[in-house]
Amino acid sequence: MVGATPPTSCLPPIRGIPLENLDSINASLRYLRSVYHPEVRGSRRRRKSLLPRIRAKLTTPDVSSPLLAASLSHLRTDPFERAYAMKWLTALISSFDCGDEEMVGEKEKTLQNAASLLAVCAGTSAAGTVIRDFTFFYVPPIEDSGLTSPIPITVKLTDISLDNNDFGSVGAQTWGGACVLSDMLVEDPGAFGISAKRLNNQERREFRILELGAGTGLVSLIVGKLLEAISLEPSHEVEIVATDYYPSVLTNLRTNAQNNIPHAANSSVKVLTHALDWSSFGSASTKVAPFNQPFDLILGADIVYEPEHATWIHSCITHLLRKPSVSAESSSYIAFFHLVMPLRATHAFESKSVETVFTADTHLVEDFSLQVLHNDTIVCETDTGEEVEYIYFRIGWK
Ligand SMILES: C[S@@+](CC[C@H](N)C(=O)[O-])C[C@H]1O[C@@H](n2cnc3c(N)ncnc32)[C@H](O)[C@@H]1O
Repeated sequence: MVGATPPTSCLPPIRGIPLENLDSINASLRYLRSVYHPEVRGSRRRRKSLLPRIRAKLTTPDVSSPLLAASLSHLRTDPFERAYAMKWLTALISSFDCGDEEMVGEKEKTLQNAASLLAVCAGTSAAGTVIRDFTFFYVPPIEDSGLTSPIPITVKLTDISLDNNDFGSVGAQTWGGACVLSDMLVEDPGAFGISAKRLNNQERREFRILELGAGTGLVSLIVGKLLEAISLEPSHEVEIVATDYYPSVLTNLRTNAQNNIPHAANSSVKVLTHALDWSSFGSASTKVAPFNQPFDLILGADIVYEPEHATWIHSCITHLLRKPSVSAESSSYIAFFHLVMPLRATHAFESKSVETVFTADTHLVEDFSLQVLHNDTIVCETDTGEEVEYIYFRIGWK
């Protein structure tokens, strides 16, 4: 396994702390944060206008990132390393001279950073979990609310540690692709069929959303909060079904869903969590709720990373994406599957497999086939300034 360096070998010796300058202390705090309260890697989206300049200096994405994530998860649960990190932070905090006039400004920020990290180490990371708030800002169209000031759409998510470093449990953590897709949804909900005006005018009073491989549930829960923020008429029902297949991931998904959008009888937005294994989903699965009705919107973030995934997901989408209807009312909205995946250097085959599987017109269903209708490249940066590229696919019936 690719190893993350532990605090005992990475931090300057405790007795030498008073001799360290502020830059070196801040570098140590950045390192501790990357272990005990990490930012989701490659989740900060660069705006489109910057793309041409950024493309020219793209670096190869870090192919070892899933391995590094597993190693960090392992490190986070190591009680000896955490105890050492806490001892080091306590020594750092007591080395600051509070009476010092120079304490203002940069030093004050460093002290606050150290104190908040100490709280994190003493609390949640004891179980190897990380709790983070994710906020995206929604600017409502003027015709929907009369307001144009951004509305924060926030969810609080728990990442748990990987099951004995089993890669099958990668959904225990939130991945950059989920942040990218959430950002796109909140920035332009209309592009995903989410608009109060459209939904309120629609004759059918329900809108069904499915997420495949939901992991910690970021995308589903952000969509849920977004739908709560737009002014839907009370008669409208939105059902969001967040799915995964790995048992501990599903349990964590359920907890995250319940903590953010608890079931309430009078709420028009409901989030359900459900097991769905792409490898075994077939027509028999569509006989049972909640898969016995088609979905108007299907979402997937970072769910194609093994050669067979695209084929399995194609089969799920074939069964579950609402087909275009000849009736006038429903033809005004066409259902799509939106997929975001990182372009990892070693996974070129997987990215290509999406285009191959969703381009072949050999899978005709009622005269329609699923096709990639649009794709785009999105560039993000990590907290160390490294660039990570994602590809977005809009897939639908043609
Ligand atoms: C890299 S994680 C991405 C999780 C989440 N979408 C995100 O971006 O944070 C891949 C997800 O796909 C799920 N997954 C992998 N194979 C699956 C399968 N055969 N059926 C259903 N889900 C699967 C994993 O459990 C995991 O949650």
